[in-house]
Amino acid sequence: MSGTNEIRKTFLDFFAKNGHEVVPSAPLVPLNDPTLMFVNAGMVPFKNVFTGAETRGYTQATSSQKCVRAGGKHNDLDNVGYTARHHTFFEMLGNFSFGDYFKDQAISHAWELITKDYGIDASRLTVTVYHDDDVAYDLWRKIAGLPEERIIRIATNDNFWSMGDVGPCGPCSEIFYDHGDHIWGGPPGSPEEDGDRFVEIWNLVFMQYEQRAADNRVELPRPSIDTGMGLERISAVMQGTHDNYEIDTFRRLIEASVAATGAIENEDTGASHRVIADHLRACSFLIADGVLPSNEGRGYVLRRIMRRAMRHAHLLGAKDLVMHQMAPTLMTEMGQAFPELVRAEKLIQETLKLEEDKFRQMLDKGLRLLDDEVAKLSGDTLAGDVAFKLYDTFGFPLDLTQDALRAQKLKVDVAGFNTSMDEQRAKARAAWSGSGDAATEAIWFDIHDQCGATEFVGYTAEQADGQVVAIVKDGEIVDGVSAGEEAVILTNQTPFYAESGGQMGDTGILQEGENRFAVKDTAKKMGTLHAHVGKVETGSFSNDKSVVMTVDGDRRRRLRANHSATHVLHEAMRQRLGEHITQKGSLVAPDKLRFDVSHPKAITEDEIADIERLVNAVIRENEAVETRLLSYDAAIEAGAMALFGEKYGDEVRVVSMGQGDNAKPNFSVELCGGTHVKRLGDIGLFTITSESAVSSGVRRVEALTGEAAFEYLMHQQRLLKQTAASIKASPEELLDRVNALLSDRKALEKELTDARKKAAMGGGSSGPAAKDVNGVSYLGQVLDGVSPKDLRGIADDAKKTLGSGVVALIAVNDGKAAVLIGVTDDLLATHNAVDLVRIGAAAVGGKGGGGRPDMAQAGGPDGSNAAAALVAIEQAIAGDK
Ligand code: ALA
Repeated sequence: MSGTNEIRKTFLDFFAKNGHEVVPSAPLVPLNDPTLMFVNAGMVPFKNVFTGAETRGYTQATSSQKCVRAGGKHNDLDNVGYTARHHTFFEMLGNFSFGDYFKDQAISHAWELITKDYGIDASRLTVTVYHDDDVAYDLWRKIAGLPEERIIRIATNDNFWSMGDVGPCGPCSEIFYDHGDHIWGGPPGSPEEDGDRFVEIWNLVFMQYEQRAADNRVELPRPSIDTGMGLERISAVMQGTHDNYEIDTFRRLIEASVAATGAIENEDTGASHRVIADHLRACSFLIADGVLPSNEGRGYVLRRIMRRAMRHAHLLGAKDLVMHQMAPTLMTEMGQAFPELVRAEKLIQETLKLEEDKFRQMLDKGLRLLDDEVAKLSGDTLAGDVAFKLYDTFGFPLDLTQDALRAQKLKVDVAGFNTSMDEQRAKARAAWSGSGDAATEAIWFDIHDQCGATEFVGYTAEQADGQVVAIVKDGEIVDGVSAGEEAVILTNQTPFYAESGGQMGDTGILQEGENRFAVKDTAKKMGTLHAHVGKVETGSFSNDKSVVMTVDGDRRRRLRANHSATHVLHEAMRQRLGEHITQKGSLVAPDKLRFDVSHPKAITEDEIADIERLVNAVIRENEAVETRLLSYDAAIEAGAMALFGEKYGDEVRVVSMGQGDNAKPNFSVELCGGTHVKRLGDIGLFTITSESAVSSGVRRVEALTGEAAFEYLMHQQRLLKQTAASIKASPEELLDRVNALLSDRKALEKELTDARKKAAMGGGSSGPAAKDVNGVSYLGQVLDGVSPKDLRGIADDAKKTLGSGVVALIAVNDGKAAVLIGVTDDLLATHNAVDLVRIGAAAVGGKGGGGRPDMAQAGGPDGSNAAAALVAIEQAIAGDK
């Protein structure tokens, strides 16, 4: 008997040996198909390879693909736990030929693997073919030597497989295993076919067509092969059971459920243990692939699965939180085949624990309400408004309530539930559109009502397919837009980050064949809608179209680096400047980051250097950046710093980065919904380019990362080198040399001033000759090129030389005149410097003048009249006497 892990390996090895590329399972969230909630078949990741839209370096492939069938078209959730073969999560083993081999080889490979490598008894196998597929019929006869009665022609859709309403499709041939006549059931096509005796183990699809629309089916470029074998089913066959929950992996998980809940396994508890075991797998794999519980879209499906399991744990009387305790068993069983599971173990455990802890408090109260209502019930149907109350107040997803009523054979009035839901929406809308300015944006409420939230898949992807759900042009909802028109396009899912938390919205391209829409910005509306703002470049866009959405990856990369650097900067500033540092604002742009903090004074050069040193040291440690979902309190306990202006629900995204210490395991822990680098080394380099004041007590720091930081520093260095070279110094000598030059210059300036003064006053020791004007010594002088500020010193000297007299100096610079009059003390009774300077100023076109009676100054625009001004002053002195 082989374990599940060996059975998977045998399959992949067999096809590798036969020329197939072993392709790792794609993530559960199908980025290449907006119509699918989760990958639900092995061929989904290869959809575009079948249709020819994508080519790869191989034409034969094999995989063990993770699949989830819960939510969306294939929803097995309701049956899980109560049947032998329904799962929310399962693995599909498959081999694929993309226009390479066809029916012949597909059948011979399958027969060889199953009868030789797996060693299954051929006499237990029966196959089906599509009713008119004679080729397949003959091949089964020839290759497998099966008798005619064990090749059954089926005319129904059971033997025509299609991915969905659209996509690749074709007739198929299925292999059935007969578990023996001790189990009830009949061969396919017989009235007893629904029994458990004959179980389909492998489906070989002869892909020949692509369904493009309901009435449009085209041939594929070349006939192809897609096969699917449920790993759990084949394991059951090989382990001698018809019940998938009896295989090794499930036994271990059910044992873990028994241990965690403390409830032994018996007829009453079996279904609950199966539910818990199955749901643990689905939840853990979804979390590992980036889905986190929420109230919309994929996150809500995850929440429903989690809560369904949690109710069963409650039913089993579990005292402690159950699901996270089982995670290590899952790691042991499946971690080797799926390393992503092990990488996300911490996140898985935390998320399960948080959800279970939170839901438990509601569960008790809700179940009590449900019991009371059931006791009052007269028919077999629970009123829709009660189910809605359980949903709205106690967080019971509808299927949880249905599951809880199942044992009592009761159902829910689903139409009534939907009516209550609609009423609540209408109420919310009425309350909202009445609130002032918001009314102008009512259109977003309509869109949200009709289309629900946009699912953001951009934490892990920069390209994904999305379905256009609404187009807005000039504030109105329109059916379509064409080339040259500006519009806002909304899709059901998007990799485009919408501006929030300081991080700018993404830009990029939406494309559908030749039709291109350039996204110039992505804005967030109603908190959950991602509005792609831009212009149709070519062609046109209309509702329901599937578009390939590609984010400008280089810009996003720079945004990521700047956002992560902001977190590291924040903590570095707290460590270097003090705990009082809190964020007051932030801008994360592709070309720079800006961060405002509370700090009472300018940040010094040394402090900036210290902060830069610390940030770069943390970057070089190159630790992985971790994102988790925690309750608000748990996040704060983990040391998270709240972000400026964020609104908090019950749960918050927590981004941790860098090594911390014992008290705080990470360097930085923040609540944040932004996009971040994988490892801190991706930031590359960090430098602060400016520090300034924003308002009192708030400082602003601007910084660069990566290439931008490098280019900036290079530029600075180049300037330094050029400057040094221009004075023939090395950069090391530059500062001393510049200081020396500055003091030389100061000394020279002083010498120059002295020389000018001297020259102005005649240069000799006797000084310029003074005139006798009515018995007063008068010295009048025009000084070209002497600075006005030097006039006072010159006048003082001249007054000393004269002993008694009046000095009039006029400095002419750039055509303008500065007039200064000095009067020695002995003449103050008869001569006033202020009066005289006004006369001089008037002569050079100036007005006024001021100072003291012994020294006054004025100016005028007309320096060419300086000599005339001296004459006017002289005349005034003459007249004064
Ligand atoms: N795509 C096929 C299936 O899912 C093999 O059954």
